[in-house]
Amino acid sequence: MKEVPLMTDEILEKYFKAGRILSQVRSEAKDRIKVGTSMLEVADFVEKRTVELGADGSAFPCNLSRNDEAAHATPLPGDETVFGADVVKLDLGVHVDGYIADSAITVDLTGGYGDLVKASEAALHAAIDTVKNGVTTSEIGAAIEDAITSHGFKPIGNLTGHGLAQYIPHASPSVPNRRIGGGSLLHTGDAIAIEPFATDGAGKVTDGSLTEIFQVIRSKPVRLPAARQLLKDLEPYRTLPFARRWLQGDKLDYSLLQLEKAGIVHSFPVLKEVAGGMVSQTEHTLIVTDDGCHVTTK
Ligand code: CO
Repeated sequence: MKEVPLMTDEILEKYFKAGRILSQVRSEAKDRIKVGTSMLEVADFVEKRTVELGADGSAFPCNLSRNDEAAHATPLPGDETVFGADVVKLDLGVHVDGYIADSAITVDLTGGYGDLVKASEAALHAAIDTVKNGVTTSEIGAAIEDAITSHGFKPIGNLTGHGLAQYIPHASPSVPNRRIGGGSLLHTGDAIAIEPFATDGAGKVTDGSLTEIFQVIRSKPVRLPAARQLLKDLEPYRTLPFARRWLQGDKLDYSLLQLEKAGIVHSFPVLKEVAGGMVSQTEHTLIVTDDGCHVTTK
């Protein structure tokens, strides 16, 4: 049995507001992604502008993943890296009272991967076209796979879109990027993010060595004073992911590790294409309606 989602006009308006703010930040940030500009400056801009425009905060740290990195890359504290001739995925999240807008675009700074970018864009459009009350996530996955393969690329099979709930950026159901058996039924009022990834590699990602994004997944008492303080500092983010560069404290890395070992904090390593393939991503958030959907991040 699937629970009937509690979607009120008030909540819907919060999803729409988050989406409108995201769209503006995304377009302003896109113009700042250029060869030679600082990645940290772009991430800072996205996160500050989100609040300036009236959102309650970022739903997760601004992701700037390049080339064979598919997701979960964000600048380090004091990062001096600049964009080169890269294929850049900008994935950003905005929340209003915990209601989330999640969207991504790919900016090709190489000039040579236009078709790869088009493949994930076309897949997202094809996926959105299938959405209405009663669609299954497997139908969405099939539309994504067909669009990407018809462009001559592979979908990344072990990355998925996802449901959204208040303060929960990755709720059920997952929305596959390929044909699967079964799948979940979507209903009017469901909030979901669809995010096709296309690659010229093997079509799979694995954990890289860098980790800059974390999330509190449960709360329990901790003994170490520095870790206890860190857990207190993390309270404003609730169950939303945060970046290491958002935090301070002389024992920060040690405290983070302690919280992770205690099962309180979950870490999100950078995800890399296993064959070193180039990766594109396009994502929108939408609310399912009786005969279609509202794309909140248009
Ligand atoms: Co997402």
